[in-house]
Amino acid sequence: MTAQIIDGKAFAADVRARVGEQVARLKAAHGVTPGLAVVLVGEDPASEVYVRNKGKQTLEAGMASFEHKLPAETSEAELLALIATLNADPEVHGILVQLPLPAHLNSDLVINAIDPAKDVDGFHISNVGLLATGQKAMVPCTPLGCLMMLRDHHGSLSGMEAVVLGRSNIVGKPMAQLLLRDSCTVTIAHSRTRDLEAVCRRADILVAAVGRPEMVKGDWIKPGATVIDVGINRVPAPEKGAGKTRLVGDVDFAAASAVAGAITPVPGGVGPMTIACLLANTLTACCRAHGLAEPEGLTA
Ligand code: GUN
Repeated sequence: MTAQIIDGKAFAADVRARVGEQVARLKAAHGVTPGLAVVLVGEDPASEVYVRNKGKQTLEAGMASFEHKLPAETSEAELLALIATLNADPEVHGILVQLPLPAHLNSDLVINAIDPAKDVDGFHISNVGLLATGQKAMVPCTPLGCLMMLRDHHGSLSGMEAVVLGRSNIVGKPMAQLLLRDSCTVTIAHSRTRDLEAVCRRADILVAAVGRPEMVKGDWIKPGATVIDVGINRVPAPEKGAGKTRLVGDVDFAAASAVAGAITPVPGGVGPMTIACLLANTLTACCRAHGLAEPEGLTA
């Protein structure tokens, strides 16, 4: 079997286009422009790239982008004061504090200071609780992107056996909640799971989010399963020249695509969906703030 490739890059372009259309409609009909504020503390190069991309795509979707770059030595009080200002700003509908924060800052405290209605990352404890209890929440972007691709591929997910490999607050746990909400039978597996391979082999849907390059082998996959690879790992690529690197997922793509029914590649799978869903969440937050109908097909 050769798996169908789920093209996250094309899917994300479609989501961005749909967000852009709705933003134009909001502006024309209601004079409202969705605004996203991104806060970056310190100079982590990878985070700077992410933040630049977020800003660029926010503007391309017709939204307002507010970037706040703070020095690494910013105090907790200063950061909390900025968040309070953004919470009170009616032009800001979404607030994202780029993680990881420098070690002297308490991420939980900072995230929970964001107005839950503007928490477009869906990391605030209120949103975590709302999602877990099946109420209207802001949903974390990466799991939302995975869910959109799964729904698009399968239609209904009801009754399917889903295994989420990884238990992070950003991906694993919210992914499991979303799959449960779509009536999957869900297992959260992790590095301490006994007989991990056999657990993965049960999955009709396998979501790999462990951050270990090519950990999931071909024989861990049930024939015909759908594999969503959330991993983005940079590994040495001596075949490309000395000191060169390449990106790989958490799944051994070549082996897995010979067994799976469908699979997301790395790069070009889940990655582009994360920012697309951030834009979708900002639009959703803006619609909710103004008491307008939510965008169809862009929420969980
Ligand atoms: N750092 C890596 N991924 C994310 C994300 O989804 N949101 C935030 N705020 N920071 C991140």
